[in-house]
Amino acid sequence: MHKTVFITGNSSGLGRALSERALELGWSVYGLSRRGCYGLSGDLHDIQCDLAEHSKITPALETMLLNVKHIDCVFLNAGVLGEIRELSQTPVESITKVMDVNVWANKIILDWLFNNDVHVEQTVAISSGVAVNPYRGWGAYSLSKGLFKELIQLYAMDFPETHFVSLVPGLVDTAMQAYLRDESIVSVEDFPSVQKFRDARGTDKMQTPTDVAELILKLVPKLRDFTSGSFVDIRKL
Ligand SMILES: NC(=O)c1ccc[n+]([C@@H]2O[C@H](COP(=O)([O-])OP(=O)(O)OC[C@H]3O[C@@H](n4cnc5c(N)ncnc54)[C@H](OP(=O)(O)O)[C@@H]3O)[C@@H](O)[C@H]2O)c1
Repeated sequence: MHKTVFITGNSSGLGRALSERALELGWSVYGLSRRGCYGLSGDLHDIQCDLAEHSKITPALETMLLNVKHIDCVFLNAGVLGEIRELSQTPVESITKVMDVNVWANKIILDWLFNNDVHVEQTVAISSGVAVNPYRGWGAYSLSKGLFKELIQLYAMDFPETHFVSLVPGLVDTAMQAYLRDESIVSVEDFPSVQKFRDARGTDKMQTPTDVAELILKLVPKLRDFTSGSFVDIRKL
């Protein structure tokens, strides 16, 4: 069945793989990122937008979604990791930068959709295990994913006609993981929690973006079995 989906963070990693798979299925795909989504064919509507620049989000959505009144699934996927650093050593300004993309940009997007009478059947917010189980050194990211999870729970209460979940994708071999593997950036001595991500590479714990995207798109209808606003870990399904 033909579907219309909206995917944030479509230039790389999971967002690009979701876009690619949705296009292969013949769906209409709307998406945004700073770099853009190049080299894919099909009914792709792509706009470049920096989600950290909040004043630019509404004009971008107005342009891209001008004639769109129904979206089967919104994937709030764009995210940044921020610095791996002890929270006490992380300035509020650095945390705010992560929050701006991982939390507040998503609020602006959802508010625009709901205030402009775009009917959204489902929203899948790409979350992380750190939303409920933070790691030392992952302060800004953990705080942002924890708050994002709560934001999704609150929107589920405000908009009962849309189904919401926060979905943990498991480990996905993307730029985010490459950053964590880079010893010149993150020292395992200082932050031992990164070792498990390094060890996971080459094992079935570290999935490819393509495999995870395919699984997520298959699972979307089944996610409706959960109470709207639920926090769901794909590895437990
Ligand atoms: N990889 C994992 O193991 C893992 C595990 C759990 C959760 N996640 C979550 O999965 C999601 C996707 O991450 P990924 O692993 O695929 O990493 P990625 O390859 O780094 O992709 C991140 C995406 O977010 C976009 N983005 C970041 N900052 C943005 C900004 N200011 N404005 C617009 N777009 C922005 C990037 O596009 P531009 O740079 O072009 O703007 C890119 O398309 C994130 O929410 C992440 O927290 C990942």
